[in-house]
Amino acid sequence: MTQDDDKRAAAEAAVAEVQPDMLVGLGTGSTVRFAIEALGRRVAEGLRVTAVATSVDSATCAAALGIVVRDFAEVARVDLTIDGADEIDDRLWAIKGAGGAMLREKIVAAASTRMVVIADASKRVAAIGAAKLPIEVLPFARGFVIDRLAMLDARVTVRDGVTDNGNLVLDALFADFSDPRSLAMALDATPGVLGHGLFLDEVDATYVADGGIVTRLERVEVSV
Ligand code: 5RP
Repeated sequence: MTQDDDKRAAAEAAVAEVQPDMLVGLGTGSTVRFAIEALGRRVAEGLRVTAVATSVDSATCAAALGIVVRDFAEVARVDLTIDGADEIDDRLWAIKGAGGAMLREKIVAAASTRMVVIADASKRVAAIGAAKLPIEVLPFARGFVIDRLAMLDARVTVRDGVTDNGNLVLDALFADFSDPRSLAMALDATPGVLGHGLFLDEVDATYVADGGIVTRLERVEVSV
């Protein structure tokens, strides 16, 4: 079993959730590509669905496989979104954005009735925080945001190139990642930060494949 076999197995398990006439959100990345391929096969067999994509890359791939891709700007609600992650833990907290699509991914996740993360076992961690956190920044605000991140005790690198939205990505390593919720709030409150890869409330379930065995983990809502 290779890592790609596991990515494919997790992707196929998630795509089995897709029902006729759903509007499906397509994330971004190499694991999602397997999901797009699996969905493309189901569409070729006659499944009627439409999709929205979180990146130009995913939209192009899906369209090439015969999946009808709608403009997300015309959409308010998505039934099921399937996306990858760079780290995911048992709280279903995730770090996303190595592929640079985290801003669109978070918007599509927020619009989704259900969002599932697919991953091979290398992405499953005891607690998120070892991966660099990608942060999408308005180019105008680069210096200001880097300074604010330094105040949050982060080591920052500026990624080459721009996102599909024409913005910069800063990859931040925080000395202290013990309180991701406060960190997310601090980032959300920083002018010039347009989005970041901390997904704390968005993920409803994960499919993680390890040696060909796929495990599904569902978010448990605790009512008080
Ligand atoms: C893109 C993402 C990707 O889903 C994440 O980086 C995982 O990618 P891959 O499946 O290629 O490891 O968040 O913004």
